[in-house]
Amino acid sequence: MTMIPHSRPSLGQEDIRAVTEVLRSGQVAEGPAVAQFERGMAAYLGLQGGVAVSSGTVALELALRALGVGHGDNVLLPSYVCSAPWLAVQRVGAQARIVDIDPETYNLDPQKVRKARTSRTRAVIVPHMFGLPADLTTLQSLGIPLIEDCAQTLGATEQGRSVGTVGILTICSFYATKLLCTGEGGMVLSNDAVLLERVGALREYDQAPSLNAAAFNCKMTDLQAAMGIAQLDQLGTFLEQRAALAAIYRESLPAEIFTLPFVPSGRTHCYYRFVVRVPKGLQSPDEFTAYLSRMAHRGLQCRKPVFRPLHRYLELPDFPASDEADGAAISLPIHPSLTEVEIRQAAQIVQDELR
Ligand SMILES: Cc1ncc(COP(=O)(O)O)c(C=O)c1O
Repeated sequence: MTMIPHSRPSLGQEDIRAVTEVLRSGQVAEGPAVAQFERGMAAYLGLQGGVAVSSGTVALELALRALGVGHGDNVLLPSYVCSAPWLAVQRVGAQARIVDIDPETYNLDPQKVRKARTSRTRAVIVPHMFGLPADLTTLQSLGIPLIEDCAQTLGATEQGRSVGTVGILTICSFYATKLLCTGEGGMVLSNDAVLLERVGALREYDQAPSLNAAAFNCKMTDLQAAMGIAQLDQLGTFLEQRAALAAIYRESLPAEIFTLPFVPSGRTHCYYRFVVRVPKGLQSPDEFTAYLSRMAHRGLQCRKPVFRPLHRYLELPDFPASDEADGAAISLPIHPSLTEVEIRQAAQIVQDELR
């Protein structure tokens, strides 16, 4: 039996050629390919520049440092996300204030952000979850600096604006199974040259005018950047393929049984993930695990979209929307290397195994 994997990098001859060229050049550490990838990503988003680093988590940390966030400050972030944003806030010595999500979009609920802000709030980390932009318009109206976390979303729009162009800083992740892959990697992007210069000074310890304890070595290599450049050339095609696969799920899964991804008016979705919610009856953790393993037995690898919401790790009460998502949402495979037949098979198994 062949398994339909939950995620898989989309790598081809273009990527192999690009990396081989760098290997042949002998310039394998940070060099011209990194600079070219930074220019390429900035141009893709329509921003002034970018600074490539070793991961999305590091990109978040350096974004916070560039804004001067530290001890005594707090940063708002959602509960329903991986632990990277929380870790970045810990690294700079600030306090993370965890906020619940909007149950329909899985993104930060701006009204809850408004309630959670204090006089010490210095930034909001806004992950655009699963491919859908957060409500940037309302978040922006709060007047708190936004760090857009585009680890899961590129090329999608909110009120005609591309994700990544609204916040004071934007971060990306290029982890193997992200929309765009360099193995590991990340970037901080912005229109603010001063902030970008600060990030640049933090990713590298050498040749600084004075010792800076916050600086480190978290650079990207030209090997990774070469892959990034080749992947960026293919991103448009990847996104079209994802949209086509999402359309097949939408026509194959009965909307009266599965709550399909919601796209509010004025927003577009880039389908990094296809997250559906199963009916109320399946919300006990044991039933949920059994459902995932029945599907795996049939050759379909589905996942919980978020391993564990932050408020659960931190044992914080009153996160009803994150709790509900945690108990009912599953992520179905959607990546450009899947075929239409595989998506139809996946849709069938998801229905068959729901008891
Ligand atoms: C929303 C979000 N932010 C940040 C990150 C961290 O990125 P990385 O794994 O490159 O450190 C991830 C990665 O999974 C993510 O999904």
